[in-house]
Amino acid sequence: MLKVSSLRLTGLSLAVLAMTAAVAAHAGEVEVLHYWTSGGEAKSVAELKKIMQAKGHVWKDFAVAGGGGDNAATLLKSRVVSGNPPAAAQIKGPAIQEWAAEGVLANLDAVAKAEKWDSLLPKVVADGMKYKGNYVAAPVNVHRVNFVWANPEVLKKAGVTGMPKTYDEFFAAADKIKKVGLIAVAHGGQNWQDFTTFESVALGIGGVKFYHEALVALDPKALSSDTMTKTLETFRKIKGYTDAAAPGRDWNLATAMVMKGEAGFQFMGDWAKGEFLAAGKVPGKDFLCAAAPGTANAYTFNVDSFAMFKLKSADSQKAQADLAAAIMGTEFQEVFNLNKGSIPVRLNMKLDKFDDCAKLSSKDFVETAKTGSLQPSVAHGMAIKPAIEGAIKDVVSQFWNDDKISVAEGQKRLIAAAATK
Ligand code: BGC
Repeated sequence: MLKVSSLRLTGLSLAVLAMTAAVAAHAGEVEVLHYWTSGGEAKSVAELKKIMQAKGHVWKDFAVAGGGGDNAATLLKSRVVSGNPPAAAQIKGPAIQEWAAEGVLANLDAVAKAEKWDSLLPKVVADGMKYKGNYVAAPVNVHRVNFVWANPEVLKKAGVTGMPKTYDEFFAAADKIKKVGLIAVAHGGQNWQDFTTFESVALGIGGVKFYHEALVALDPKALSSDTMTKTLETFRKIKGYTDAAAPGRDWNLATAMVMKGEAGFQFMGDWAKGEFLAAGKVPGKDFLCAAAPGTANAYTFNVDSFAMFKLKSADSQKAQADLAAAIMGTEFQEVFNLNKGSIPVRLNMKLDKFDDCAKLSSKDFVETAKTGSLQPSVAHGMAIKPAIEGAIKDVVSQFWNDDKISVAEGQKRLIAAAATK
C-alpha cells in the first residue's frame, strides 16, 4: 500500500487532486454539431471546446463544412432519424420549434433557471429558445446581417470617399472600382449568400415595413408591389459588378478577395469580420464596415444557438447541461464573440474589448428594438418556416444566376414560392 508520505503530496497538489476527482465524477462527452469551419469561425468554436475541456469533459467535434449550415442540417436529420443524435447542434430560428415538435430535444429549464436566463436575454431571443415555455436551446450571439464590408485601399485607388449610404452612391462607387480594373463586389455561390444580399437590398430599397410585409409576413400584396420590382432590378444590377468566377465560391473566399484588395465590397453578415480579424486585419484601417445602403436605421438579426438533444447517459446529460451553462456564461460570451464578429446575446455585458463595428451593432440592436426596426433575417433562418425559406431562396438564386429570367418572371416565381405550404 502506498503511504501518503511517500507521495509527498503538498497542500496544493492535494487540492488539485480533489478538484480533478470532482470533475472526473461528472466527466462526460459532448458531441457538438456545427458548421464553423472558416478561419474566424474555427477560432471561435475552439474557445467553447477549451471551456468544456477545462470542466473535464470530452469534446467530440462534429464539424460539417458549408456556410449557412445547409450541409449540417442534412447530416443532422440522418443522425436523429437513426436514433443517434449529437448532444448539441447548431440550429436556429423556427427550425428549433420544428425539432422540438418532434419530441427529440432536451429540457434545459433546470440550468436556465439556475443561471437566470430569462433575465439575461432579450425577450425576443428567449422566446425563440423555448418550446411550449421550456428552454430547449442556448443562444450564443447576435449577428447583424445587413452589413457591407470594404477595402479602404481599393476605395482610395478608385477615388471613392466614404462608404455608400444609398444605392445611387453605391453604384457610382462600384463603377469607379471597375474603372481601375478591380472587382466591385466580391460574391460567392450559394443560395444563402444570394439571399443575404437580396434581403439587404429589399430592406434598403423598401424600408423596414416593406421588408417585414414582403419577406417575413410573405404578404402577396407586398411581394407583387412596385417596390419588389425595384428590389429585383437593383439586386440584378449588383450582379453585374461581381466576377464570373463567383458561382460555387465560399463566402470566406469572397471575404478574402476584399482582404487582398482584389475586390471593393462584400455584402455579408458580421461573421465576415471574424475572417478579417483572424487574418490579423484591423477594423477602420485594413477594412471598413457599414450598414448596407439605405439600412442604417434597421437591423436584420441572426442569433446562433445550440439546440440540445435528449441523451440517455447521466454523464452525458451533465456534460450537456454544463455546455448550456458555459454558452450563456460571461467568459464564453466575451471571447467567442470577440472572435466571431458578433456581439454577446447576454444582456449587460461590457463591450470595452470590442471594436467599433461591434459597438455600432450593439447600439443599433438596442435602438432598433425600441422602434420596431429590428427584423429577423430570412437568409439566416430566423424568420420563416424552413420549407418556405428554402423555396424562396431557390427562386431568388435562379433569378440571380440566370439573366434570361426577366424581373417580371422572377417576381411571379417569388410570389408562388412564398405560397409554399
Ligand atoms: C451563421 C454564422 C456563420 C455563417 C457562415 C450563418 O448562418 O449564423 O454563424 O458564420 O452562417 O457560415
